[in-house]
Amino acid sequence: MSVLSPLRVVQITDVHLFADSDQLLLGLPTTESFEVVLRQVATLDPAPDLIVLTGDLSQDGKPESYKLLRSLLKPLGIPVYWLPGNHDYLPAMEPILDGSVISSQKSFCVRGWCFLLLNSQVPGHVHGCLKQESLKWLDHQLTAMRDYPTLVGLHHPPFLVGSNWLDGSTLQNSSDLFSVLDRHPQVRLVVFGHIHQEYSHQRQGVQYLGTPSTCIQFEPHSSDFALDQERPGFRLLHLYPDGTWWTAVERTNYVHELDLVTRGY
Ligand SMILES: [Fe+2]
Repeated sequence: MSVLSPLRVVQITDVHLFADSDQLLLGLPTTESFEVVLRQVATLDPAPDLIVLTGDLSQDGKPESYKLLRSLLKPLGIPVYWLPGNHDYLPAMEPILDGSVISSQKSFCVRGWCFLLLNSQVPGHVHGCLKQESLKWLDHQLTAMRDYPTLVGLHHPPFLVGSNWLDGSTLQNSSDLFSVLDRHPQVRLVVFGHIHQEYSHQRQGVQYLGTPSTCIQFEPHSSDFALDQERPGFRLLHLYPDGTWWTAVERTNYVHELDLVTRGY
């Protein structure tokens, strides 16, 4: 392999699996759409080096939903890392999502890039917030690994995305996050989920990227809750040893009738 070969990372987010694999989320069978995404990931050539899951991996937070996630990911044989979203139940997911292929590590380096995964969930709430101890941990990790280009992951976007109903549940203390990141210029990318749509914004030399869900999609710039007809997808990231990067959102061809009457999510 050439020394200039990029590290190939797949970001998968907002899987919303249920303990019952046949259960629907607003009409969509989330297990089925996730399987279609994984089949597409499996066809990537060269194969990805690692997968980062950015939260809402379960819809019901039940242990069986995390066991289902694990059983679907394991056959790929690709190292998987994860962080929780607002729908996740950490006490259930932690013991299940830690094994030979799936790691619960939140700080790791691969071929010259470092990865720091944050927990922005506030139990019982939809919005996100980073605890002071998480911000201190982030600052400490970035200081210790100052020589490596770095990708930071969290579930909640640190920006408003122009949808009233979603903008009430973004990260509530983004300025605290920015004040840490601004001290560490090696941070190149911040990736997140939660908004079930593609998003990109640059701030102070850092690219902030939101990624489509593997199930339902939210309509961009809608003031009220609204589903989008876009297909489920994932994000591909190529990370080069010199700190440069390339990214693209990949969509599947999965189509399923949605329940557009139900408002609950
Ligand atoms: Fe979600």
